[in-house]
Amino acid sequence: MSKLIIGNQKMYMDYDKVNDFIEMLKQNNLENVIVCPSFLFLNDYKNIVKTGAQNVSYNDNGPSTGEISSTQLKTFGINYCIVGHSERREFQKETDEDINKKLVKLLNQDITPILCIGEKLEERENNSTETVIKNELDIDLKDLSTEFVNKIIIAYEPIWAIGTGLTPTNEQIDEMMKMIKNYVSTNFNAQVKVLYGGSVSDKNVDELNTIDSVDGYLIGGASSKKDQFDYIIKSNK
Ligand code: PGA
Repeated sequence: MSKLIIGNQKMYMDYDKVNDFIEMLKQNNLENVIVCPSFLFLNDYKNIVKTGAQNVSYNDNGPSTGEISSTQLKTFGINYCIVGHSERREFQKETDEDINKKLVKLLNQDITPILCIGEKLEERENNSTETVIKNELDIDLKDLSTEFVNKIIIAYEPIWAIGTGLTPTNEQIDEMMKMIKNYVSTNFNAQVKVLYGGSVSDKNVDELNTIDSVDGYLIGGASSKKDQFDYIIKSNK
């Protein structure tokens, strides 16, 4: 089955590259593709491809300078949003409690959240990966209904694999996909799509495509490089 391809373009791209990128997208079958560009460029992408934001405020409309609300996204026509990316957890000190509040705001607007979770290298090395992931999910998904959890896409992104060129083995990825699906089904009676993220590129996507439990990818660096993203989209049969 073909996999979901989500590009998290982070803050990589300047505006002068956007048109070229859109031209590449137009040559592809975009049924399974979602692009999450900078807020500034959402308008350029949103009629070409399914489009997501990279963040949302947990506040309602009001005095929050520099923030963007879930209703602003919805009324602008945005139906996906990344939540809890490790860069925001680290640099903006986003907590799991914040992430839980953001999920509620998005789900109330019927925007699909792409929830990022993942362990640090030392956590994997001391065998606490599973505990770390469960602790994140316990708080991130706290008090959500089955109906809401069913709408979430989860991206498993080991922090040590993001932007480093390192990836877990296929077996390790498979194990985590199954663990997360099992957690969600046991605790919420829900079925979610689980993506892998962390150094997915044109070089390793063919091999990653062989892991059946992977429902798709969250792609950072390679999603703002036109030729690499083109290759990844085309590799997805
Ligand atoms: P990367 O980033 O593909 O550049 O490793 C993935 C992500 O942070 O979502």
